[in-house]
Amino acid sequence: MERPFPPRSLFLAPMVELSHKPLRILAREFGGLDIACTEMASASLFLSGSADELWYLDPEPEPERTMLQFYTMRGRTGPLLEALERCADLGVMGADINFGCAAPRISRAGGGVAWLEDPSGAWSLVAEARRVWPKLLSAKLRIGTEEDYPRLRDFCLGLVDAGLDFLSLHPRLSDEKFRRKSRWDFVAKLAADLSVPVVGNGDVRSYADYRERVENYSPAGIMIGREAARRPWIFALIRGREARADFSLEIDLLATAERMLDLLEEHIPPKHRLERARRFFAYYSDNFTFAHHIKWRLQNAPDLGAMRASLKSYLAEVPGDRKKTFSD
Ligand SMILES: Cc1cc2nc3c(=O)[nH]c(=O)nc-3n(C[C@H](O)[C@H](O)[C@H](O)COP(=O)(O)O)c2cc1C
Repeated sequence: MERPFPPRSLFLAPMVELSHKPLRILAREFGGLDIACTEMASASLFLSGSADELWYLDPEPEPERTMLQFYTMRGRTGPLLEALERCADLGVMGADINFGCAAPRISRAGGGVAWLEDPSGAWSLVAEARRVWPKLLSAKLRIGTEEDYPRLRDFCLGLVDAGLDFLSLHPRLSDEKFRRKSRWDFVAKLAADLSVPVVGNGDVRSYADYRERVENYSPAGIMIGREAARRPWIFALIRGREARADFSLEIDLLATAERMLDLLEEHIPPKHRLERARRFFAYYSDNFTFAHHIKWRLQNAPDLGAMRASLKSYLAEVPGDRKKTFSD
């Protein structure tokens, strides 16, 4: 079977309030990002015409290298199928079904990880989605409620039989949030046991992490989440280092932050701008020497203009933080 993407492709993870168009534009401007995912959207809300879901699913830039991410609840497969039919003409690379979200709001209502308790329901969902959706179809998962590899493998084998093209695994248990380290040995086992590509995800924060995962666990691709908000140039850095051991990137941290603020103003509806800016800067602030200090100032800024002013005054106080060179 033809592989849906080149070996070791770099993915931007789907992340609510983070994997929006501004972050995807910024990461693509730096380069190195192969495939991006949108923020997660509710299939039912999308169908009911929710304006929010419509812009969550805006696949620009580069729709042909963007996956839409949907969630739907157990017992409610119809909305996903209809949503997929409506998205057929968006020109996107494909659609991803969320079987991994552990947020109580979603999982208690029967979405995300709750599907792992209903394997035959999940297999039917994928089989029906396959029938209506001609593009790539993937799923994103966590391990489940316990470290039971045979159970996870059987769940995934069923998804593949039902017509899934690839899957991404964030190898943590359902209730772990980000506690403990991700268990990449589960990625390696699934990659060996499934006939479709398995993308590994979790705790990749540097080129060294990327190399270690590629060498030890043979994922078909590497998906990066939080580090893409901390350092949107991480994909460019990984590709650069792969090509040349002495590669480094000099980043203007103020210009990059201002670019993100411009993009948020341009592409995000006013009522959602501030929360998305705060979410982004909660990670991005780690680049600064006095990270807690600037993070606190940015989290408490009342609007994006005040954020700009805070960044400028911080960098006037700590001018050495403005430009930094990254090699890992
Ligand atoms: C703020 C935030 C929102 C997230 N939202 C989603 C989501 O909507 N769908 C999803 O499949 N995973 C979601 N995730 C999980 C990430 O896609 C990813 O699996 C996780 O962050 C581990 O990767 P990382 O260590 O590279 O961050 C979210 C993570 C974060 C931090």
